[in-house]
Amino acid sequence: MKILMTTVGAVAALLLAQTSGAADEISADARLAAQHVAVMTCATCHGPQGRSIVPKFPALAGQHPKYLAAQLQAFKAQTRGDPDALGYMWGMAAPLSDEMISALAAYYGAQTPAAGSAGDAGAIARGADIYANGVAAEGIPPCIACHGPGAVGTGEYPRLAGQHAQYLLKQLRSFQNNMRNVAVMHGVAQDLKASEMEAVAAYLQSLR
Ligand code: HEC
Ligand code: HEC
Repeated sequence: MKILMTTVGAVAALLLAQTSGAADEISADARLAAQHVAVMTCATCHGPQGRSIVPKFPALAGQHPKYLAAQLQAFKAQTRGDPDALGYMWGMAAPLSDEMISALAAYYGAQTPAAGSAGDAGAIARGADIYANGVAAEGIPPCIACHGPGAVGTGEYPRLAGQHAQYLLKQLRSFQNNMRNVAVMHGVAQDLKASEMEAVAAYLQSLR
């Protein structure tokens, strides 16, 4: 009996060690389950491996897992608001467990982003200037300061390169009018003019 108890204790300790070790890793089961959800559900809108084809639906391929997980948590908590977030993503995120959110974020982060698409050359050049230098006269900071060279982002600063211009433009408007309520991006976007938003969105979409 004593031996049995010791064995049970040892096995329990081993299991505990494995679970805590797996907290930042993601279990093989969770990875498989996330891949299944991504292919069967999310791909309907976000495209195969998150390379979205429809401009209303953001590309997720190659986005930073930390940012993706934070957004899924924000949809789940219903704090990322605007009619499209509410209409499309609150319901999608509601049933996702924390583990599933981490695994989905890891899945999309590991996919190769699609190449960007060209647009109006004049708008792209103007957008490149705003991205690199901001608009000093209007108090708009350089986007590159946070989103990085090539707009590939880091951790909580999302990748913007190759994202659909229509989606980017809508987010900038939502930050401006606080429907997507994020203080740092509200500060950036509050004085951006419509033509400046269009230019920077065209530039970002053109990047690969
Ligand atoms: C019916 C269409 C639809 C489905 C299915 C869907 N999404 Fe979305 N998703 C959207 C739309 C639309 C947005 C943009 C919302 C906005 O404009 O604020 C979005 C936004 C997102 C974002 C934010 C991206 C960013 O760059 O900030 C993430 C992350 C996301 N979805 C993940 C998922 C995951 C994971 C699934 C599957 C569980 C999923 N979506 C299923 C329509 C969909
Ligand atoms: C001080 C840092 C900072 C600067 C400068 C900055 N951003 Fe951001 N940006 C952020 C953060 C942080 C987020 C993520 C917000 C969130 O958590 O929802 C973000 C999100 C975004 C998004 C949403 C991306 C998505 O996938 O939904 C867009 C679009 C964006 N920024 C564009 C810009 C543009 C254009 C500029 C320059 C005019 C800029 N940003 C300057 C910090 C910054």
